[in-house]
Amino acid sequence: MRAMVYRGPYKVRVEEKDIPRIEHPNDAIVRVTHAAICGSDLHLYHGMMPDTRVGTTFGHEFIGVVHEVGPSVQNLKVGDRVMVPFNVYCGSCYFCARGLYSNCHNVNPNATAVGGIYGYSHTCGGYDGGQAEYVRVPFADVGPSIIPDWMEEEDALMLTDALATGYFGAQLGDIVEGDTVAVFGAGPVGLYAAKSAWLMGAGRVIVIDHLDYRLEKARTFAHAETLNFNEYNDIVVEMKKTTDYLGADVAIDAVGAEADGNLTQHITSAKFKLQGGSPVALNWAIDSVRKGGTVSVMGAYGPIFSAVKFGDAMNKGLTLNMNQCPVKRQWPRLFEHVRNGYLKPNDLVTHRIPLEHIAEGYHIFSSKLDDCIKPIIVPDAS
Ligand SMILES: NC(=O)c1ccc[n+]([C@@H]2O[C@H](COP(=O)([O-])OP(=O)(O)OC[C@H]3O[C@@H](n4cnc5c(N)ncnc54)[C@H](O)[C@@H]3O)[C@@H](O)[C@H]2O)c1
Ligand SMILES: [Zn+2]
Ligand SMILES: [Zn+2]
Repeated sequence: MRAMVYRGPYKVRVEEKDIPRIEHPNDAIVRVTHAAICGSDLHLYHGMMPDTRVGTTFGHEFIGVVHEVGPSVQNLKVGDRVMVPFNVYCGSCYFCARGLYSNCHNVNPNATAVGGIYGYSHTCGGYDGGQAEYVRVPFADVGPSIIPDWMEEEDALMLTDALATGYFGAQLGDIVEGDTVAVFGAGPVGLYAAKSAWLMGAGRVIVIDHLDYRLEKARTFAHAETLNFNEYNDIVVEMKKTTDYLGADVAIDAVGAEADGNLTQHITSAKFKLQGGSPVALNWAIDSVRKGGTVSVMGAYGPIFSAVKFGDAMNKGLTLNMNQCPVKRQWPRLFEHVRNGYLKPNDLVTHRIPLEHIAEGYHIFSSKLDDCIKPIIVPDAS
């Protein structure tokens, strides 16, 4: 089969690989019809994630058709169209039993923190991902769902991570009616979080980024107010000014480890790897929220420490909520929102790229060229 293969930082190729085999009775092999590149994949692509091994295939957002099932699989059969959450999880351990699917204890030898994620380095279990013609799906009776007839394929694809995560980000903000919600980052996760904040009762939604074309999308897609942080000496002061000098009630970090806006943070994280990621957006979130407010962290950070303004968070009495998204927990509510038209997930898809050209897809998305917001990959193994 053809598959995206990691060859080192900033180097991805499409190569020939064996079609994955059933390795466990509850595995399925899925023929991928659509995959996506996520902002999280950029952390791998830029060499930021420990134990990202050469030769592995990325891709944790994918949908497809069941090609083969192991002997114990009961919920899926060959030919079913399935959407697969980005989490690999067992469904029955202590953590899964509590809905913490992203913290499953049975799928990752390093599972003291994160559980399993498709195509996301050996730090997250070492599973090959779906930017390929075929992918092995462990615990096939647990994660995947059959795509409802009424759901469009690109919408289903957005539900495997980006939309579910944005919605989760808003949920973890504990928004109450009338709240002012600040969203840092106007990538897919931030834009979906901004849109979801309205569904949870927000009275104002303010999106902060430095890419004008994405801020434009924040206004048209998420109906948010926008601030370009490059236009102000201090974005935190600007946030204070626009919120009666109190601060926002809720702030969502939808940027993560590779945040721009502070050279020292950038050099100590991206260049010298002295931090698990540059927490510029997280620190801005902590500073922009009012005392007693809530910060929801969706942006991803690596396993080592980062220079977070923890003392300020403590002294302001903030609530910090965070996790990798437990995707399937979000689906029942999100299926309703998509079906009744409150959310139109594929409005954010800007690029549809054949698998053979995936290197160009990574380059365009990483360098934010051609007004790229969400690129999807279309293999063709049918
Ligand atoms: N928690 C989860 O389950 C989960 C799931 C998916 C993605 N993520 C993470 O969410 C983050 C966003 O993902 P994405 O796909 O939207 O990525 P993206 O790279 O498309 O978007 C990030 C945006 O942040 C902007 N930005 C950079 N520095 C900023 C700053 N200091 N303040 C405000 N904005 C800034 C960038 O210009 C960009 O538009 C990533 O860290 C990704 O790893 C987490
Ligand atoms: Zn992702
Ligand atoms: Zn589990």
